[in-house]
Amino acid sequence: MAVETTLVLVKPDGVRRGLCGEIVGRFERRGYELRGARLLRITKALARQHYAEHRGKPFFGELVEFITSGPVLALAVRGEDAIGGVRGMMGATHPRDAAPGTIRGDLATLLGENIVHGSDSKPSARRELRLFFPDGLLP
Ligand code: RTP
Ligand code: MG
Repeated sequence: MAVETTLVLVKPDGVRRGLCGEIVGRFERRGYELRGARLLRITKALARQHYAEHRGKPFFGELVEFITSGPVLALAVRGEDAIGGVRGMMGATHPRDAAPGTIRGDLATLLGENIVHGSDSKPSARRELRLFFPDGLLP
């Protein structure tokens, strides 16, 4: 058990659909602490860096187009085992497979518009938090 900080993005579909409050509320009610929040339009360069692990995959172009299609809400979320805990609350990548009660299981139907991103490991969280909250942006 350890206190961790993880990066969450409410993706452009979630922002467009007015779901930021719902999603932030779920994390707060669970008991996680909000350490940072930034509404921003991701540049193509940042999108390629953020999703570097998917470079070369057939869906990479679509993914970059989608994540840059409108503002996202970037959140630094902290709490006990927050990295895995947040992933659990998000549900499976394809909303079709996401359990009811999870964010994707309750609020999404499409693989390409699955509302939230969450870091998938400690190294990913460290790397992604640095991308979205450069030095000085986290209290
Ligand atoms: P994310 O990174 O956005 O939190 O999602 P994830 O870890 O659950 O899934 P990941 O494998 O990292 O995939 C990143 C996003 O790419 C889209 N995707 N499309 N067409 C496809 O086969 C495909 N596979 C993945 C999804 O929107 C996924 O969230
Ligand atoms: Mg991922």
